[in-house]
Amino acid sequence: MNIMRVKAKQGRVDTEATDALVLLFCEGEGLPQEDGVILDRALGGALRELLQSKEFDGKAGEVVVFHTHRKLPAKRLILVGLGKKHELGLDQIRQAMGHAVKRVRHTKCDAFAIALPSIVPHEASPIDVGQTVTEGAILGSYQFTTYRSDASGKDVAAMTILAPRKDQLHQLSEGIRRGVATAEATVFVRDLCNHPSNVMTPTRIASEAKTVAKDAGVNLKILEQKEMEKLGMGALLGVAKGSHEPPKFIILQYQGAKKKDDRPVVLVGKTITFDTGGISLKPAENMEQMKADMTGGAEVLAAMRAAARLKLPLNLISILPAAENMPGGRAMRPGDVVKTLSGKTVEVQNTDAEGRLILSDGLAYATRFKPAALIDIATLTGACVVALGQFAIGMFGTDAALKEAIRKAGLRAGERVWEMPLWEEYFEQLRSDVADMRNIGGRGGGMITAALFLSKFVGDVPWVHLDIASTDWSERERAYIPKGPTGIGTRLLIQFLINRSL
Ligand code: BES
Ligand code: MN
Ligand code: ZN
Repeated sequence: MNIMRVKAKQGRVDTEATDALVLLFCEGEGLPQEDGVILDRALGGALRELLQSKEFDGKAGEVVVFHTHRKLPAKRLILVGLGKKHELGLDQIRQAMGHAVKRVRHTKCDAFAIALPSIVPHEASPIDVGQTVTEGAILGSYQFTTYRSDASGKDVAAMTILAPRKDQLHQLSEGIRRGVATAEATVFVRDLCNHPSNVMTPTRIASEAKTVAKDAGVNLKILEQKEMEKLGMGALLGVAKGSHEPPKFIILQYQGAKKKDDRPVVLVGKTITFDTGGISLKPAENMEQMKADMTGGAEVLAAMRAAARLKLPLNLISILPAAENMPGGRAMRPGDVVKTLSGKTVEVQNTDAEGRLILSDGLAYATRFKPAALIDIATLTGACVVALGQFAIGMFGTDAALKEAIRKAGLRAGERVWEMPLWEEYFEQLRSDVADMRNIGGRGGGMITAALFLSKFVGDVPWVHLDIASTDWSERERAYIPKGPTGIGTRLLIQFLINRSL
């Protein structure tokens, strides 16, 4: 997919020549000031009539196309509802833009303009609005057609955000710059997750990381199986044993801080390119969705690229332990004991609990960089889906300030987290008769015991774990979220890094 070009421009809605002009309405608030009034006058009161007829009154998700018949330089208006004014948040704007851009594509317009909304959420700056409008438009027009010979739907090529005043342009442009970075990163993640696992192997992930490192000018190190053996990454190697695809341990390093030795933020992403469950084989139903079990890894790779492109003033390291979880003659068996990089031994009672195994080596490796903050993100447990459904990411952590920063970034990005307990009491469920611990926690609290397992590998580093099994795949298309891989978590991570840089 080509990413839409977005720019800000000073201009008036009644003089802008465009194929489509998008205007956002709050429910039951009449014509938006000033733009709505100006346009209504030019159209001889037609907009006011439309509102009075209740055919359109600005409900969330409502879209109406209005042809101007040469009464305006804009060929058509696309009126989009934001919902109730007192419920207006940035995500409502993002969603309205998702609806808008789909209609623009439907009308076969190549480019469109959007009037900067006059009513904005409480405390939202022009930077926030510019970023949000950009994200909604780019993310709402996402399509994955790589493998379709009948691919027809043309991408919308360009969007112009019209601002009434010149002094708004500077902040708007900064918002656009951020919005393009976060949306482009999400699109990258969706693409990586959409590719089938016969293409998106650990080797292919490594080559994607090479491209990112080259384009973004960051350092790259890839550990091959031999080096992992030498280091003692027994957990990752154990998971990889059943597959013919060689595992990769990928480390990207960006130095943006003024002081080279500033403690870095380290991101670790679960990168299982396909999860069959291994010898503890998964049922066939929905197993194809396990091609997206590398979402976490794709997200930390995308966040790395965005941070480098935005030249954020911080030091950042992204780590992707990558493997495929397959059954086979050499596969790990239930009951096998592996020795992790940390030295701790684990009894593998279920080979389908592979995420925590590869992450245990990823996290132990991460602590070597003495991180200021360590964040892992993973499609870790089915229990997360059961507990939280589709609208919240599971959060665990050891550091109150870090958890608060993640919570804020998630709220701002419209990718919200919900904290779960990381209480030591649960560890009794992880005890093994033969090793330091086992890799499953038995009945009850499956998301919690998985997180607690991970906590044993982070030492005393400030750490947050995000379980995105709930949000990584959408059962249906939404305003700016496609059916299938969503890339949710990407913008949260980048927003966290942006906020930390301010
Ligand atoms: N990748 C899965 C978790 C998952 C499930 C992600 C559904 C997205 C949607 C993970 O590796 C897994 O299989 N977890 C097991 C753990 C169990 C064996 C303790 C699970 O949740 O069933
Ligand atoms: Mn699994
Ligand atoms: Zn998995």
